[in-house]
Amino acid sequence: MKGCFITVEGTDGSGKSTQIELLMKYLTDKGLDIVFSREPGGTEISEKIREIILDIDNKNMTGTTEALLYAAARSQHVEEKIIPALEAGKIVICDRFVDSSIAYQGAARNLGADVIMQMNSFALHGLMPDMTLFFDLSPEKGILRKKNERALDRLEAEKLDFHKRVYEGYRMLCKMYPDRIVPIDADRSVETVHKDVVEAIDRLLKEKHYV
Ligand code: TMP
Repeated sequence: MKGCFITVEGTDGSGKSTQIELLMKYLTDKGLDIVFSREPGGTEISEKIREIILDIDNKNMTGTTEALLYAAARSQHVEEKIIPALEAGKIVICDRFVDSSIAYQGAARNLGADVIMQMNSFALHGLMPDMTLFFDLSPEKGILRKKNERALDRLEAEKLDFHKRVYEGYRMLCKMYPDRIVPIDADRSVETVHKDVVEAIDRLLKEKHYV
């Protein structure tokens, strides 16, 4: 497929949003055609599923239901938005993708990576990211940042142990996919982290003949 698919991952509060904003500006300034999206969400239907998943009142939601809802939102997103954008040769930057399901539902909810990949075999429609940036910040620091920002959603409100398992899930993914996932130490200044992001993205753009 044409285009370029970049995903951004990290534990809650790892500074993803700030870094995505800077990256988008960097790429737009280069005159590149960018589409931004996020998961869960990115399309009208997927955003509605997001509301159900993150609703703090849905305390009885089982891990399996949660994983299937993320996969359903993803399926709609991939077919309706991501694949068409890539086919049009665009650079798609997505805040979270299937690695989040492996870390949160697979590792933290204990469903296992294999079950999550099985569930997502429909949702992915054969698509995987060209590059994934993983913002590496300890869960203790991340969740503290979030608490200081705003009221927490259902996933953020999980106990620290849950967030530690998410983090371990990401560490496992980094070991499994060293060619795709670029770990970036997020416990540094915004500018320093951004420099590392630019270095990784420039490498990918060259490989893909965008620059
Ligand atoms: P966000 O706050 O980064 O927008 O993500 C929403 C929450 O959903 C966040 O706590 C991570 C979680 N999540 C999963 O548990 N599984 C998934 O597949 C995705 C995409 C997100």
